Parts: sequence; structure tokens; C-alpha cells
Amino acid sequence: MKYFSFLTASALTSLASSSAIVSREARVAPPPEVESWKRATPQAPNGYAPAVVNCPSTRPSIRSADRLSQQETEWLQKRRPATVDPMREFLVRADIAGFDVGKYIDNHKDNTTALPNVALAFSGGGYRALLNGAGALAAFDNRTPNATNTGQLGGLLQASTYVAALSGGGWMVGSIYANNFTTVHDLINKNEIWQFQNSLFEGPPTNQIQVLSTADYFKNLVDTVTSKMDSPAGPFNASITDYYGRGLSFQLIDASDGAPSFTFSSIQNDTDFSSGNAPMPILVADERSPNDIIVSLNATVFEFNPFEMGSFDPTTYGFAPLKYIGSNFSNGELPQDQGCVAGFDNLGFVMGTSSSLFNQIFLSLSSFKNIPSILLNAISGVLADIGKDKNDIADYTPNPFLGYNNATNPSADNRRLTLVDGGEDLQNIPLNPVIQPMRQVDVVFAVDSSADTVVADDPSQNWPNGTAMVATYQRANTDIMNKTSFPYVPGQDTFIALGFNNRPAFFGCNSSNVTQGDNIPPLIVYIPNSPYVFWSNQSTFGKLDYTIAERNAMIENGYDVATQANSTREGASNWPACVGCAIISRSLERNGESIPDACQKCFTQYCWNGTIVENSAPYTPEMILAAVDTKSGVGKFVPNVFGLALAAAVSGYLMI
Ligand SMILES: *[C@@H]1O[C@H](CO)[C@@H](O)[C@H](O)[C@H]1NC(C)=O
Ligand SMILES: *[C@@H]1O[C@H](CO)[C@@H](O)[C@H](O)[C@H]1NC(C)=O
Ligand SMILES: *[C@@H]1O[C@H](CO)[C@@H](O)[C@H](O)[C@H]1NC(C)=O
Ligand SMILES: *[C@@H]1O[C@H](CO)[C@@H](O)[C@H](O)[C@H]1NC(C)=O
Ligand SMILES: *[C@@H]1O[C@H](CO)[C@@H](O)[C@H](O)[C@H]1NC(C)=O
Ligand SMILES: *[C@@H]1O[C@H](CO)[C@@H](O)[C@H](O)[C@H]1NC(C)=O
Ligand SMILES: *[C@@H]1O[C@H](CO)[C@@H](O)[C@H](O)[C@H]1NC(C)=O
Ligand SMILES: *[C@@H]1O[C@H](CO)[C@@H](O)[C@H](O)[C@H]1NC(C)=O
Ligand SMILES: *[C@@H]1O[C@H](CO)[C@@H](O)[C@H](O)[C@H]1NC(C)=O
Ligand SMILES: *[C@@H]1O[C@H](CO)[C@@H](O)[C@H](O)[C@H]1NC(C)=O
Ligand SMILES: *[C@@H]1O[C@H](CO)[C@@H](O)[C@H](O)[C@H]1NC(C)=O
Ligand SMILES: *[C@@H]1O[C@H](CO)[C@@H](O)[C@H](O)[C@H]1NC(C)=O
Repeated sequence: MKYFSFLTASALTSLASSSAIVSREARVAPPPEVESWKRATPQAPNGYAPAVVNCPSTRPSIRSADRLSQQETEWLQKRRPATVDPMREFLVRADIAGFDVGKYIDNHKDNTTALPNVALAFSGGGYRALLNGAGALAAFDNRTPNATNTGQLGGLLQASTYVAALSGGGWMVGSIYANNFTTVHDLINKNEIWQFQNSLFEGPPTNQIQVLSTADYFKNLVDTVTSKMDSPAGPFNASITDYYGRGLSFQLIDASDGAPSFTFSSIQNDTDFSSGNAPMPILVADERSPNDIIVSLNATVFEFNPFEMGSFDPTTYGFAPLKYIGSNFSNGELPQDQGCVAGFDNLGFVMGTSSSLFNQIFLSLSSFKNIPSILLNAISGVLADIGKDKNDIADYTPNPFLGYNNATNPSADNRRLTLVDGGEDLQNIPLNPVIQPMRQVDVVFAVDSSADTVVADDPSQNWPNGTAMVATYQRANTDIMNKTSFPYVPGQDTFIALGFNNRPAFFGCNSSNVTQGDNIPPLIVYIPNSPYVFWSNQSTFGKLDYTIAERNAMIENGYDVATQANSTREGASNWPACVGCAIISRSLERNGESIPDACQKCFTQYCWNGTIVENSAPYTPEMILAAVDTKSGVGKFVPNVFGLALAAAVSGYLMI
């Protein structure tokens, strides 16, 4: 697919002159204030360049996906017990009539497998998904001021075992973990990163913690990526994802040089994560086999967790130790004559991999002012190497799965593993990691910020319509899911006609009526982006910068999306109780206990009952509460011509 064949010269000129893209003179910033911000640790041995390190006492190798890693299993022994008290407190606040929380928890607290196992999932959708997801995460976080008030959902995060995310959702989750499991509240109050008023084409504001001038920012992107390509531990091949992931790091990680040494595997050593006080973050990407252009539903889904990267799909069906993925594995082993290479799993690169569709915005660089020729030349060089058609790949050379599972692994005979945006297979909610039978998740809170809806003559759409749920449901009926069951899900018309894309809905309430498989899938609580106080359907590619006021309004809207306006939305006064019922549903069943009447009422209200609607009217939602004032005159968003052209160019991937 030639993404830019639709991008006319005039569209690009108009983009370049757009008021959002201000030309700025390179200048030297004042020194940053001394700041003891807490963050993940810079563990890479040599900045952005992977380097040979001493091997651990057990030589790294590729393992089969037939079980959870030993590290995850050990971590779960800390995490599951640590969820018990937050879950108890959450359920007490949820106030489910007729359900004795204290008794239930006390009866089962010594056997955590009997208790609910909760996961959160944040969809892709660029900055829209980052911000809507951030609002929901803030609502679920008991550290957010007032989040544990009546009608709210604070503590769900602390009661969760896993937090999966992809693409723009992955920027949000990655940023929280990169900054030592900070809170959304602290991030936006501190206001040092998440400075989205400056797009990636401008670099961070120079009066903030970042010390680099605009020119130095671009030079830094090129220099660090060059250091990777020149590393004697290689050869490593750069993709646009490297440059773009470096840019992302400046927006998302609070370190003055754009955090070149911060690795995803270093999250292992974060205080909150390692002690079991925070859930496990998991980012998702898809494999795009060599020579494939379109990513299909049977593409292999990869995950990155702090310990490993790999796939449960019956194709690759293996995992590599994340810290050492730059090493020259073959046939599942690291040959004795090969050193251990660390530093490949740079945090920005991993976040960039999951969101690689955004590589495309770097293809339009030449239309921006003040982009130095060193960066333009570097990008041209990459394109000459890999070809324009493949501009959205992230290059994992050396392929850790070379010679591994030869019969089924599509990249078994390739030195290069190419991964793309986790939403390119239409599964824009990262459900794959949290529906794996081995993880035994009971309920997934799935925040959907996809841009699905299509209404003729109305460009300001970008609302979800259930497409991501439908995609995973369809995949569950194919061999690539190896009989991993999933709830039944109706088509998009039903989502729209019954309002499932405007307010939360539950799928899979009846655990015995699900797609074929050997396991009971989690109940899915689907939480669609909808307009409460702000038009949160901002364009994925058409809006690449947000003023501080817009950023905060998006987050506030996301908070209301998750809490249904703190349970003030019509008919939602029992929302926390219903969330509590979704949490305990599978656990009650497992323990042979009856469902409280209050929960039956919730299930009648929120569960899809099998009704199918064949045709829906165009979806044009009203604002649910009064709009917040962002003082910038932003109304319902109309994308600029660049956004429209880019959206047309990526049609087929519109939902991301
Ligand atoms: C991370 O936060 C924890 C508390 O949540 C704190 O104990 C720890 O020192 C912090 N780590 C760093 C590197 O700042
Ligand atoms: C723990 O709970 C599970 C689910 O109810 C049950 O199958 C298992 O037997 C229990 N284990 C123990 C040791 O009680
Ligand atoms: C928390 O709630 C109190 C009273 O309801 C209010 O005065 C305060 O502004 C709220 N704080 C935040 C940060 O929302
Ligand atoms: C990867 O890098 C090596 C060494 O720089 C180069 O020879 C090779 O052509 C590159 N491969 C691709 C696919 O770009
Ligand atoms: C990080 O945590 C791992 C366990 O997950 C441990 O083996 C390793 O020694 C730690 N590294 C550092 C630098 O603390
Ligand atoms: C996906 O399915 C198509 C047919 O539906 C098949 O041609 C292709 O080989 C499959 N790809 C993988 C990776 O299994
Ligand atoms: C498929 O799943 C079954 C269990 O359901 C498991 O035994 C088998 O190893 C899996 N195979 C692959 C290739 O995933
Ligand atoms: C997989 O393929 C590689 C190279 O094609 C070969 O060296 C290796 O022995 C094969 N592995 C198995 C288990 O057949
Ligand atoms: C739902 O979204 C998909 C993806 O954009 C689109 O193809 C489909 O037409 C939409 N369906 C409805 C009913 O809105
Ligand atoms: C819900 O509560 C949060 C936190 O106190 C607040 O920021 C938000 O504005 C509230 N929303 C409504 C609709 O009251
Ligand atoms: C099922 O849901 C539909 C749509 O919400 C509703 O009209 C219908 O009455 C429900 N059926 C039952 C049996 O509850
Ligand atoms: C199972 O669920 C599907 C979809 O909701 C429905 O059509 C079917 O009738 C259900 N089957 C049973 C046995 O309840």
C-alpha cells in the first residue's frame, strides 16, 4: 500500500503552513531546574546503541509458549496477594446489595486463584487514545484525588493483575511505567512531559526539563539512531520506528536527553512492579511477514512484557528474554561464540513498534520548516533500504526466533523479524495477552478509543463502533487462536443500534455460551469513548498537537467515559456496583456461590442478551454533559486537509 500516493503537494504545503506548525529558531535553553523526578532506570549499557554485556549465569534462550515464564509465575505470587486488599476496598465501596464482601474475601484470601483476576486493556488511536485512556486510567487509580468518592472507580487499577495496551494506548501505559508508575494526575500537574502542544516535528519545549534546542533535538534523534547502526554488537538495521520512537521518548519519558538508555525490561526493577504493587504492563504488536503488505487476522500477535517478548499464537509459539533480544539467537539458543547483547529493547522503540503506523508522519518531514537535512537524509536512507511500502515496520534484526519452530513460524528462516502497529490487524484493543487461558483472567475492562464510525459527508467522526471486538471474536473462530475461547460479539450495527458504543456494555456474561475452546474466557466490560464534556473524537492523524487545555479536557472526558460521569449519567447510579458484579462474576461461579440479585439486575442492564440488529442509523452522538471550556475556541473538530489526506491514504487502517 502506498500510503502517500493520495498526499498531494498542495496538501503538504497546507500542512506546512498550518498554524499548528510554528517555525522556531534554534536557541539554547536555560538549564533545567534541579528535579528529583522518579523514573525507571537507565539500564542500557551504551545509550541507544545495543552493546555486548556479560551473560547471566543461565545463558539466555528462547522458550516454548506452553506455559507462563518462571519470572511471571514468581511475580504473580507477589501480585495476586497484593490485589486482595485493594479489591476488598473497591468492592466495599461498590456496595453490591446482598453481597458480604468481607466474608467472601476472608473465605478465599488464602487461595487467590479463587478470587477475581482483573485485567485492563487500552486501545490504540494515537493521541486521542493516549488521552482518553489516561482519563480512564486516572479514574481507576486510587491515588487520583477523589477517585474513591462515592460513584467513582478508584482502586480498580490496584486490584488488577495486568494492564495491556497498544499503539496510542501503549504510549500512555508505557509513559506511566517509564516514569516509575507515576499517576496521570501527577504527570499533568507536574507538566514536564506530555507537552503535546509541541508536535514531534518541533521537539520538546525548551523551557521545560528538556535541555535540547530544537536543532539539537533533531540531531539527537539522528545521532542516537546512528550509534545503534554503528554498534559493533550489530549489525542492526534502523527503521523509521527508531527515529520516531526517539521523538516519542522526549514526549513521554521525563529525562533530559530523551531517555536513550531506558529499556522496557528495566521495568522489572521498578519498586512498585517488582514488589507486586503494580500490575504487569504488556504492549502488543503484530508480525508482518516478509513480503506481506496487509496484516490479516491470522497474523501473529506479539507481546512485550517486562520479562519477555514473543507470542502465544501457534505460529511463533515462543518467547525471548526481552533484555537480551539484541543477541544473535538461532535455533532457540545463543551459540557459545555469540555474546549477550543488551539495550535493544529501548522503551521508545518498543512503544514505537506498537504504534508503528505513525512512522508515516515522518515521511512528510520534508514539508515542515526547519527540519535539518541530516534527519531528512537519514529517513531517505532508511526508505532506500527497506522500500516505501514497508515504511511502517519496526526492524528486529537479529530475529530472536531465527530457526525456531521452523514448521510454523513465518519468520523462522529470516534474520529479520518485522513488527508493526498492534492495531493493524483490526484488533485495536489489546485483548490477546489477557484472554490467554494460562493467564486465567476473569474480567477485562476494555477502553476503546478506536476511530471506526463512517458517516457520509461528516469528517468529524472517529468514534468506536465495536470493530476491535468483532475482530478478536472473528479471530477466535480460526486456527490461529488454538481454541482460545472468546465471548460472542454482535456486528457493528448492533453495537450502534443498542448504544453499546456510547455507554459501557458487558460481553460473555454467560460463561457457558462462548466460542469453542477449552477454557472459560474473561467477561469483557467494553468501555467506548464517547463525548461527555469534550469532543473526544479527535482525528488520529489530523490532530498531532493538543494545547494543555485540550489535553486536560480529553483526560477529564476519559474520566467521565470510565465512570459514566461519576455515576451521574441517567440510569448509571448503580455503575460502581455493576463494575463490582463484573469483577466477581466468574469467581462466584468458580466457587459455586450464587449471584446476588443486585448483580442479576446489573447483568440485565449491561450484558448483551443476544439481540441482533441488522441496520443502524448513522451515529452522531450528543454531548452528554455541558462542554468544558478549553478557552481556545475548539469546537467539534474538523481535521485539516493533511489529516483528511492522510486518513484517506491509510483507509483500511482508519480505526486506529
Ligand atoms: C519509585 O517510586 C517508589 C514509590 O512508589 C519509590 O520508593 C522509589 O524510590 C522510586 N524509584 C525511583 C528510581 O525514584
Ligand atoms: C482454590 O480455589 C480454586 C477455585 O475455587 C479451587 O479449584 C482450588 O481447589 C482451591 N485450592 C485450594 C488449595 O483450596
Ligand atoms: C475533591 O472533592 C472536593 C469536595 O468534593 C473538592 O473540593 C475538590 O476540589 C476535589 N479535588 C479534586 C482534585 O478534584
Ligand atoms: C541491514 O544492515 C546491513 C548492515 O548495515 C546491510 O548490509 C543490510 O543491507 C541492511 N538490511 C536491510 C534489509 O536494510
Ligand atoms: C532486575 O530484576 C531482575 C529480576 O527480575 C534481577 O535478576 C536483576 O538483578 C535486577 N537488576 C538490577 C540492575 O537490579
Ligand atoms: C492466513 O490465512 C490465509 C488464508 O486465509 C493464508 O493464505 C495465509 O497463509 C495465512 N497466514 C498465516 C500467517 O497463517
Ligand atoms: C494449542 O493448545 C493446546 C491446549 O489447548 C496445547 O496443548 C498446544 O500445545 C497448543 N499448541 C500450540 C502450537 O499452540
Ligand atoms: C530450523 O531451520 C534451521 C535452518 O533452516 C536449521 O538449521 C535447524 O536445524 C532447524 N531446526 C529444527 C529443529 O529442525
Ligand atoms: C464500523 O467501523 C468500520 C471500520 O471503520 C467500518 O468499516 C464500518 O462501516 C462501521 N460500521 C458501522 C455500522 O458504523
Ligand atoms: C468526576 O470526578 C472527578 C474527580 O473528582 C472530576 O474530575 C470530574 O470532573 C467529575 N465528573 C463529573 C461529571 O462530575
Ligand atoms: C434484550 O435486549 C434488547 C435490546 O436491549 C431488549 O429490547 C430486549 O427486551 C432484551 N430481551 C430480553 C429477553 O431481555
Ligand atoms: C448463545 O449466545 C448466542 C449469541 O448471544 C445466541 O444466539 C444463542 O442463542 C446462545 N445459545 C444458548 C444455548 O443460549
